[in-house]
Amino acid sequence: MAHDPEALIVADADGEVVGTVIAGFDGWRATLHRLAVHPAWRRRGVALALVAEGERRLLSRGAKRAGAIVVTDDASAVAFWTAAGYLVSPHLRRYRKDLVGKSF
Ligand SMILES: CC(C)(COP(=O)(O)OP(=O)(O)OC[C@H]1O[C@@H](n2cnc3c(N)ncnc32)[C@H](O)[C@@H]1OP(=O)(O)O)[C@@H](O)C(=O)NCCC(=O)NCCS
Repeated sequence: MAHDPEALIVADADGEVVGTVIAGFDGWRATLHRLAVHPAWRRRGVALALVAEGERRLLSRGAKRAGAIVVTDDASAVAFWTAAGYLVSPHLRRYRKDLVGKSF
């Protein structure tokens, strides 16, 4: 919240948080992170509403395109992002490196 309060979006149902997403923008890439909806509230359009609000905020901050990192063997996640209009990027692959335990 202190770093970027606009980035954190929550879905509220009578004071209870039922869904979240973080809409991050580094000035170049815009990414929707940590999308999750409470199991009791799924398949009611909550995630679509969260993503739409994230996209609206990202566009207003200057982003031209949004992305999401999706676990490809999670069928519901893949189905959701496809339903939300996201396409697999053919020329990008995520690279990573573990930093814990590394000496500098
Ligand atoms: C994926 C997740 C966020 C979807 O939230 P949700 O609020 O249920 O999604 P919505 O109701 O907005 O779904 C919109 C559309 O996405 C698709 N969809 C969503 N969940 C789906 C599922 N489990 N199986 C198939 N399609 C699904 C459907 O097309 C759906 O429209 P419909 O209900 O009219 O058929 C939710 O299942 C979740 O929190 N999962 C665990 C965390 C997770 O996987 N997060 C994504 C990380 S990349």
